[in-house]
Amino acid sequence: MENIEICHCMGVKYSDIEQALHSADKLSDVTDAFKHVQEVTSCSTGCGGCYNSILEIISELLHR
Ligand code: FES
Repeated sequence: MENIEICHCMGVKYSDIEQALHSADKLSDVTDAFKHVQEVTSCSTGCGGCYNSILEIISELLHR
């Protein structure tokens, strides 16, 4: 799972999303977390096709 590429346009892997989330000080919600992950990894700045998968992964990781 860690090495699965989630955003193909930007080559962002599951582990990159996880790391980006850990680098955040405080995240109020999933939207906030998404913005942070996007700034760090540039995920979902291409075709946008990965948007839902990324949101799902973020909410999964936040609620773990
Ligand atoms: S797959 Fe992520 S922006 Fe295209």
